[in-house]
Amino acid sequence: MADDTTQDAIALLKADHRKVEDLFERFGKARGDGRKEKLARQICMELTIHTELEEKIFYPACEGKVEEDLLKESFVEHDAAKLMIAEIEAGSGESDDYFDSKVKVLSEEIEHHVQEEEERGKGLFAQARKADLDLDALGAQMAARKQELLKQYDASGLPQPELTTMDEVQI
Ligand SMILES: [Fe+2]
Ligand SMILES: [Fe+2]
Repeated sequence: MADDTTQDAIALLKADHRKVEDLFERFGKARGDGRKEKLARQICMELTIHTELEEKIFYPACEGKVEEDLLKESFVEHDAAKLMIAEIEAGSGESDDYFDSKVKVLSEEIEHHVQEEEERGKGLFAQARKADLDLDALGAQMAARKQELLKQYDASGLPQPELTTMDEVQI
């Protein structure tokens, strides 16, 4: 059960959003390939964990309780981000002339996606808030899973995320 130290599901996810926005901002101001690469890796790690929490715990809990189209778009937007994240993780500022541009485009994709989740009154979170969801229990579940994934990241790295919605083509 929630006590003063636990966040409900939406508070937890919003805190992740703020953290990543801050990291993107720091990336924009950073100088030097090493510094940028470190920030980019942290952004990719944070987003990979956040995406996993939403796709495996939060979004399934929202199914049937929020607009179906909005939820489906969210999965597609996550997949687009996973592709860009994989690109960024495979490269570096030294090896890839487009490294900074990819991080910038990822930040724009995420900004759009976060807006759809957080939009007042009609975003995914607002709809979830109105629905009959146990946000405290979901928050606790996601916080526990997040700790596991952070440990895994430190020990051996995160598993390669899988695409949920894109299997039509091989480019
Ligand atoms: Fe999110
Ligand atoms: Fe999301």
